[in-house]
Amino acid sequence: MAVIKILPHPEYCPNGAEVKAPAGTSICEALLDNGIQIEHACDMSCACTTCHVVVREGFNSLNEMDENEEDLLDRAWGLEPNSRLSCQAIVAQKDLVVEIPKYSINHAKETH
Ligand code: FES
Repeated sequence: MAVIKILPHPEYCPNGAEVKAPAGTSICEALLDNGIQIEHACDMSCACTTCHVVVREGFNSLNEMDENEEDLLDRAWGLEPNSRLSCQAIVAQKDLVVEIPKYSINHAKETH
């Protein structure tokens, strides 16, 4: 079991949050199971980038990215070296600190 700390996000969790995630769950599932409605437009099938998160701590404990995820991530808004698609990032036993970027590609399209 790992604890995922989510940094405050104006829409999803204004005061931040901490959720517990059993090893083997994706970050996206863990957030959704705990009422944090992160976008997941392709239903977690690694075909959009709306579930993008930046992993501030514990990045190396996650499973490795596959090529698909890497390619898709290139299109995500606010890409950082520690970015992951949360539906593809599988939690191990180590606690994580995760930031949900301010915008997803959907928002970016609407505002530009
Ligand atoms: S929900 Fe679409 S890539 Fe994660």
